[in-house]
This record gives sequence, C-alpha cells and structure tokens, in this order.
Amino acid sequence: MECREVVARFFGIRDASRIAFTANATEAINLGLFGVLQPGDRVVTTSMEHNAVVRPLRALNDRGVAIDRVLADDRGIVAPSAIRKACSTGTRMLVMNHCSNVTGTLQAIEEIGPWCRNQGILFMVDAAQSAGIFPIDVETMAIDLLAVPGHKSLLGPTGTGFLYVREGLDLRPLLYGGTGNFSQSATQPAEMPERLESGTMNTIGLAGLKAGVEFIEAVGLDRVRAHEQMLLARLIDGLRQIDGVQLYGPLGSDLHGGALSFNINNFDPSLLGFRLDREYGICCRVGLHCAPEAHGTIGTLPEGTIRLSPGYFNTIEEIDVALTAIREINAVKS
Ligand SMILES: Cc1ncc(COP(=O)(O)O)c(C=O)c1O
Repeated sequence: MECREVVARFFGIRDASRIAFTANATEAINLGLFGVLQPGDRVVTTSMEHNAVVRPLRALNDRGVAIDRVLADDRGIVAPSAIRKACSTGTRMLVMNHCSNVTGTLQAIEEIGPWCRNQGILFMVDAAQSAGIFPIDVETMAIDLLAVPGHKSLLGPTGTGFLYVREGLDLRPLLYGGTGNFSQSATQPAEMPERLESGTMNTIGLAGLKAGVEFIEAVGLDRVRAHEQMLLARLIDGLRQIDGVQLYGPLGSDLHGGALSFNINNFDPSLLGFRLDREYGICCRVGLHCAPEAHGTIGTLPEGTIRLSPGYFNTIEEIDVALTAIREINAVKS
C-alpha cells in the first residue's frame, strides 16, 4: 500500500511491512505494550506520560508486570541519567513520549534509544506530539516500537495511526481475524503487517494520511517547525507581559514543541478556556489533558492548565487575537 511506503520513508523505516496501521496512537501503544509484556517483566516509564500509556501500564501491572516511573523536573524534562539509573538489570522495556502534550517538552530520545539498544532494553516511543514536527528516524534513534497518530501533526484524518515494530520483534496481536491472505489457515499469520492487522482497513483514512505526510515532505519539516516556533515565541512573549500569567515547560527553547501550558493567578483554567471559546472563537484545551501525572510533576493539580498549541496553519494575526482576548478577560477579572 502506498501510504505504508510514504510513512516508512518519513520515519527512516527500511521495511514498510513493519508498520501496522491502527485507529489512533492509543491503539498503537496498547498493541506494543500488550503485544510484548508478560507477567514478571519490568518496565520503566516517566512521570510525563499520557493516559494512553499510563492506563495500559496499570492494567499490565494488575497482571504482574512491574512498573518504575522516572520523575521529570518541573519543566517536564526527563534526565537521561535518571533513565539509566532506573533501568536496572532485568528491565524489559522503556516506554516514554518524545514530546509532552502538557508542557510540549521534547525528550532526548536520540541519546536514550541507543543506550537502551546497548543494554538489550526494548525502547518504545509515543510520538503523538512530535511526529510531523520533529524529525524521527527509527534507525539512528534505535527505536524498537514507535506509536504514532495520523490525525495530529501528520495532518491525516481521525481514525488513522500506526505502530512500527522493529524487525526481529514478534508481537502478540490485539485482534485476530481475516487478513485478506493465508485464508486456508485457522491461525493468525506470522508475517507482518498481517500479523497485527485484522479486518477491513480504514483505506479512505489512510489515503488522507498519505496526503498529509506528502504535504509535510513538500513543505519541509524544518519549515513547519520554524513557523510553529516563531508563533510560540510570539505567544510566550505576549503572555509574559500579562499580569499574573504563569507559564510552564521549557519555554521557547529548542526543547519546546508545539504545546504551551499556562495559568492566570486565581483564574480557573476551565473558565478561561470556556470564555476564549465562546466569546472569541479560540480553540484551546483545559484541565488535565489526559495526563494527570504530568500535571503532578509540574505542580498544577488539581485544576491543570490551559493549553494553546499553534500549528503550521496558524498565523501571527491569530496569535495576536489570542493575546488580546486573554488580556481583555484578565483585565475584567482583576
Ligand atoms: C502524548 C500523547 N500520547 C498519546 C495520545 C493518544 O493519541 P490518540 O488520540 O491518537 O489515541 C495523545 C493524544 O493527545 C498524546 O498527546
């Protein structure tokens, strides 16, 4: 399928058949975790994970998989040295995101992956917030399992995503059934991608995903990133000038991806988000962003934060409108 080839090229995947399409990143993460881990295994993860990782790990923990969590600092940065310390002998897998959906913090996976490979620890990356913004190469980053949604920065439709599985790694399927080939056999094929793809595929969605990735290739990942960074810098600058604003994350640095979390003193983020939406037509996400442990890490429990995530199709004017709106709401409040 052409989409598989395009996605493989984009992520430095040599053999496109190692890509199993899924409905979203959550399914890809579940496939990777439940497909590999067994009772008695030990997994290391971080305090910055989305519930798409936290909850399957909890379910696996109930089945006898031991979990260790590495604490990030208050900007959401996970120190590679802390990972190395936590990955004691017998660790089967390290699973972590590349970029936080709460603070936008980018983790040093290019350093962590090769270290894991050397230690014989499987390295699984949740790239939900980085795929389509930051370059990802499964070979140089030594990624064994890469979970990606099609519907975020890869610009595909909802209902698309995939799991990359490194050659030589055999996963138990989540779903068993018809694969369109090997029909005479009552057992699930061993061949990839059929092993992990049962039932009719979301072909229309995958055509859209292919178009999305080709668009990014045509524009250039560096231009996408540069545009988003420019908007983010303007947003951060503007917010810093508003009374009572508290910003979170590695603010505008090279370690800062698309998402910016902030709060205004004594202002419920849900109310601020509601007013931005209703009164100004500005979309944002408020609360805990399906990542309560990340909010615990940066000290924003129980209310969470308000998050704005400028993307490639946003403009400077839109950032200025958002800043004016926040200023106006804050002025009336105080
Ligand atoms: C870091 C992270 N991981 C996983 C997910 C889950 O992605 P999906 O909705 O494609 O299942 C998200 C969604 O926002 C996310 O931000």
